[in-house]
Amino acid sequence: MCVAGARPNFMKVKPVMDELEARGAECFLVHTGQHYDRAMNEIFFKELDLRSPDHFLGVGSGTHAQQTGLTMLAFEPLVTELRPDLVVVFGDVNSTLACALVAAKMGVAVAHVEAGPRSGDWSMPEEVNRVTVDRVSDYLLAPCEDAVANLRVEGYRDERVHLVGNVMIDTLLANVDSARKRPVLENLGISRGAFGLVTLHRPANVDDEHVLHGLLKALAEIGQELPLVFPMHPRTRDRLKQHLPPGVLTIEPQGYLDFVSLEDGAALVLTDSGGVQAETTALGTPCLTLRNNTEWPSTVAEGTNQLVGCDPGQILSSARELIKHPPPPLRPALWDGRASKRVADVLISDQAAPQAGSRG
Ligand code: UD1
Ligand code: UDP
Repeated sequence: MCVAGARPNFMKVKPVMDELEARGAECFLVHTGQHYDRAMNEIFFKELDLRSPDHFLGVGSGTHAQQTGLTMLAFEPLVTELRPDLVVVFGDVNSTLACALVAAKMGVAVAHVEAGPRSGDWSMPEEVNRVTVDRVSDYLLAPCEDAVANLRVEGYRDERVHLVGNVMIDTLLANVDSARKRPVLENLGISRGAFGLVTLHRPANVDDEHVLHGLLKALAEIGQELPLVFPMHPRTRDRLKQHLPPGVLTIEPQGYLDFVSLEDGAALVLTDSGGVQAETTALGTPCLTLRNNTEWPSTVAEGTNQLVGCDPGQILSSARELIKHPPPPLRPALWDGRASKRVADVLISDQAAPQAGSRG
């Protein structure tokens, strides 16, 4: 069973499920329903040619406990009915946590795709999810060397940890050529290399009025020098109480292909997204991360990402500097479009079905 529920899951589940099925595994796609707007959900199925979910749990939004608890309640009977050999979960969202916990408690083997990234910031709900999911998983499929190092420090045995690379980059590389052909830049009246792209949705940035105000101030100032395009996440849209200045064009969350086209064509990306940090590094686009920490340090050490925090003056001066002196693009090892193949190499072997209970 492959579990997806929120926007950053769809581009990760697609290549892995394809690869597992190509090798003869019978897969069921379970959609928890954590994200449900067309722009946060359906459009990804269409653009990525991801088949309709075999099972839809319809959980929707709520507090962390509501969302996680309802997902667990809905997922448990499905596991009882289907008795899978393996539950594959992706990333760090609440759907990932809920389904990993259910499977682990039912004695079903769990594979975690994107195991090991750590921000070290326990105020981030995703950090709680990452650490907990890894703890109950049998197969820890790590996207990069630093993730493997984190797991070693936490005491995981080498047999459980597999460096496979970043499956999200498999999907990116498979789609970047079609993304470049999209007319999104023309439609928005912007030119390649002459605009900035913004995404913001972390609770620490958008739920705190003071922090959000400072970030918007920085965007307004940058927008006077470089037009900014800001596809707005629904959480941010809900929190926003002011209009943005003309230099900052707010638009609906974008479909995958148009968004990748924007990432690829931007002179600069300003973001607090995990996936966008990784994708901009893979594309070689300069990125400023509006946070004090990152679970993707290789995008800073090797890629085009820079951590800048939330201070408006610092953001403005770093943006100017990065546009003037873009960092050289360098992609972390195994972000090569073949990560899903390595996932399947680990999960499908000539031996017996995956075994639960190797967590220790
Ligand atoms: C979730 C993930 C986060 C991920 C992000 C990707 C958790 C804890 N957080 O955050 O790690 O980076 O998705 O986008 O799992 N909403 C809609 N329509 C939708 C979905 C959400 O309007 O289709 C609104 C609702 O008001 C909801 C709010 O957005 O309450 C937050 O949604 P939720 O899934 O709880 O968290 P995200 O902020 O999206
Ligand atoms: N993305 C998209 N449209 C948008 C914003 C993001 O298709 O308007 C894609 C982006 O290319 C990446 C993923 O969504 O593949 C990142 O998800 P998000 O930022 O929501 O979550 P995070 O990675 O922070 O968990």
